[in-house]
Amino acid sequence: MKTINLKSFKNFSKKNSRSTMARMILVFLIPFIISCEPTTKTKEQQAPSAMEQSFDLENEINFCEAQLDKAVLKLTDLTKHPRLIETNETEWVEVPNDKLIWTSGFYPGILWYMYELTGVQKWKDEAIKRTEVFEDFKNITEHHDIGFMMFPAYGNGVLFGDKQEYKDILLTSAASLATRFNPNVGTLKSWSNIMHPRWSEHITIIDNMLNLELLFWAAKNGGDSTYYDIAVKHAETTMKNHFRDDYTSWHVLEYDETTGEVLNRHTKQGYSDDSRWSRGQAWGVYGYSLMYRETKDKKFLDFAQKLADRYLELLPEDMIPQWDFDAPNLETQERDASAAAVVASALLEMSTFVTDKKDQERYYNAAIKMLTSLSSDVYSGKGKAASFLIHSTGAKSLGSEIDVALIYADYYYIEALSRLKKLNKTSN
Ligand code: GLY
Repeated sequence: MKTINLKSFKNFSKKNSRSTMARMILVFLIPFIISCEPTTKTKEQQAPSAMEQSFDLENEINFCEAQLDKAVLKLTDLTKHPRLIETNETEWVEVPNDKLIWTSGFYPGILWYMYELTGVQKWKDEAIKRTEVFEDFKNITEHHDIGFMMFPAYGNGVLFGDKQEYKDILLTSAASLATRFNPNVGTLKSWSNIMHPRWSEHITIIDNMLNLELLFWAAKNGGDSTYYDIAVKHAETTMKNHFRDDYTSWHVLEYDETTGEVLNRHTKQGYSDDSRWSRGQAWGVYGYSLMYRETKDKKFLDFAQKLADRYLELLPEDMIPQWDFDAPNLETQERDASAAAVVASALLEMSTFVTDKKDQERYYNAAIKMLTSLSSDVYSGKGKAASFLIHSTGAKSLGSEIDVALIYADYYYIEALSRLKKLNKTSN
């Protein structure tokens, strides 16, 4: 059994000294130690938990493949995709592949990642089958989710399956998304006012940061170069307006569509307009890390670090956030494993961008702790459900998807496994 632990990180950082090891142990132990009450601890209490010591990547990939092996036999309706598993249930609830349902691309995206991780042809065949059913979504202009829908499916198909014929579909998708850019505001409009009538002008939500990946890809692959500019402008405007002084994110901003003035800062999926919705913060961390990847502009990496550092400070000990950091009686609130998976994936990438060794260690080790926690009996679907992960919360404020399994939690989880595998290869 090959586990990822502090020793593995030593390889990753290409450093082989005792002092590095000592520093890394300290990085792990300091939060653990300072959260402890005074000095009379037993040996057991002082030792780092199993969660902090190791993560068995190969075992986890095998588990995910076994889950998918079983799932494909049941998920046969090509007009639908798995979206969630209800609390204490075992099987996926399927919903239509529909232009208005933002989650359509994640299941094919997972299959592409499984193909990438294993090289097994059946995963490519299955991924193609599940991807090619919603080509016409490339023309969606009614909302911003086209990025979430098309890139995990068609984008991963190009990246991992060499499906060159998907390129035109992605270019059309990017053109559709770009129609939502309002230069008066400097952002893409996320939602339609008809579907979200609380707001009557230009709505931008933090989640939108993820859709920028589609624009960057298109700008590099034969699309209009303005897609790049739009993505950068969106990120800059969002950086200016969408965050509190403590580097936490609001969910929904409404802008005057003519003057670009911020009209209000609200929420839809968080606990309250002023509360800190954990998945919103996760989208921010991921989004600004992605901005640095695509632009190499240091201001985006600095910002991603600020968002990540705040997120890490707000986490409970097991590294899986409550669905909102400001919900009352926080300890009793449902967790959101999807936010944890998004951030774990982002931090693995960020750990390769930051130049300071201590930051590399911090982000890498935090990601490993998150993955270890997610793969534990508490958060894993092992023996409990058809998903990789359980205990996610989609929209508690709307009374839906509370403490369930969610397809996008699994998507960002397998993405994190893929990123970790690549990191380990680089370091060996
Ligand atoms: N719109 C994506 C989310 O619910 O986080």
